[in-house]
Amino acid sequence: MNKYYITTPIYYPSANFHIGHCYCTIVADAIARYKRMKGFDVFFQTGTDEHGQKIQKKAEEVGKTPKQYVDEIVADAQDLWKTLNISYDNFIRTTDKKHIECVQKIFKKLYDQGDIYKGEYKGLYCTPCESFWTESQLVDGKCPDCGRDVYEVSEEAYFFKLSKYQDRLVKYYDEHPEFIEPISRKNEMLNNFIKPGLEDLCVSRTSFDWGIPVTFDENHVVYVWLDALTNYISSLGYLSDDDSLMKKYWPADIHIVGKEIVRFHTIIWPIILMALDLELPTKVFGHGWLIVNGGKISKSLGNYKDPREYIDSYGVDAVRYFALREVPFGSDGNFSEESLIARINGDLANILGNLVQRTISMGHKYFDGKIENRNIEDELSGNFIDEINKLDSLVSEKMEKLEINLALEEIFNLLRASNKYIDETTPWILAKNEDNRDKLETVLYNLLESIRVSALLLRPFLPDTSKAIISQLNTQSEELSYIGTNSYNLNNPEILFKRIDVK
Ligand code: MSP
Repeated sequence: MNKYYITTPIYYPSANFHIGHCYCTIVADAIARYKRMKGFDVFFQTGTDEHGQKIQKKAEEVGKTPKQYVDEIVADAQDLWKTLNISYDNFIRTTDKKHIECVQKIFKKLYDQGDIYKGEYKGLYCTPCESFWTESQLVDGKCPDCGRDVYEVSEEAYFFKLSKYQDRLVKYYDEHPEFIEPISRKNEMLNNFIKPGLEDLCVSRTSFDWGIPVTFDENHVVYVWLDALTNYISSLGYLSDDDSLMKKYWPADIHIVGKEIVRFHTIIWPIILMALDLELPTKVFGHGWLIVNGGKISKSLGNYKDPREYIDSYGVDAVRYFALREVPFGSDGNFSEESLIARINGDLANILGNLVQRTISMGHKYFDGKIENRNIEDELSGNFIDEINKLDSLVSEKMEKLEINLALEEIFNLLRASNKYIDETTPWILAKNEDNRDKLETVLYNLLESIRVSALLLRPFLPDTSKAIISQLNTQSEELSYIGTNSYNLNNPEILFKRIDVK
């Protein structure tokens, strides 16, 4: 069985999560579910990135220890992922013992082999973003990410020799054109960060202590990226007594990350792996942001609602559908409640819900819910059956390219074609003439097959809705193409998505 290791970034538990965080996790979940459906042995990992000065400060502000503080937020995050039906196989916390030990061993190993050395750090630091910047990276003298003040800091620190690996990295990019996607992000890395020359990376700090201690120099804690990025292998037992998962799943098939952290995943991470003599991940995909009113949704900007409010109002699959359908994966996209409602009304209620409701109701009305194929052939039905049979490969083509919105569009094209098939075959007119009974039953049968195949292919994207449709169809058949020999004994129709009345 082919393996597939997929990860999301590990999130900072510095406040509650917003719809932007859900975006990446929903997409990763849909890909993971799709791969499982296609027979891959999937390992899907998400988690939390819990160390650092910012978290230490927040915890102090509310009178908690950092661990108490993160424990509560992590529990809340896990609850949110459960509500969103996120099917992760592993949730890693950087405060896990297994992770801590792995980071410590890596740090020591890199130090022993001369890739980490002690020096002095002088730099401009943005506390909320936990990022160091050079003078030239600042925008109007402020942090280029959040626009806030930066402070000059100077302290003893350990450094990791990124510069030593620069040529190898560029060579790797050249030889592996699929490593960074979309391609524009690769050019950005080369032009903005690599060509100007890589500076060695600060990998320890002494000015705070909420971090993983450096075993051989206890004033130091491991500083952010060496700790965070290592999550992808510490969870697999790298350098531990049991590295069976490492042998099975590494290298990762895909790291899905937001565009602002592509540089850490495509420069620092590959170099850490090279220094450790490990294989590099097959792909790093940098997605865009969900934007609200023209700006990034962010807790620090305060322009977000708890995602549970949307889920409570519209249902989990409506939120999943929006995240997967609205924005081409890779680009930025606007999020607004109006556009969420437009998707629900336009696609989920009108196209999908209506089709299922109409078809199942007609099945009950004309045949008491018991329908078999009467094989009455005509050109219209032949073409329709061809379309049903093409869907699986069309979806798979799009998923291979991570064009998730287009994969969904293919499914909705078939649903639209099904509604059109109803309009063109006019079952209510066929029902008026007893001679057309077999024809009518064949039409309904074909529609049920179309709904069945669509519902199965929707499963990775909208798991609850898919399940509800399959239960209304009352079928066990898992075939992703038209089968001429099924028979249906339908359950009662139930509304899948209510139209939202926009007042
Ligand atoms: N802890 C680091 C990642 C370490 S991975 C080894 C981090 N955490 S984060 O919580 O700030 O962000 C996690 C992810 O959420 C990032 O990929 C980021 O791009 C994504 N998003 C945060 N806001 C977002 C939107 N508004 N829209 C889409 N994704 C966004 O970075």
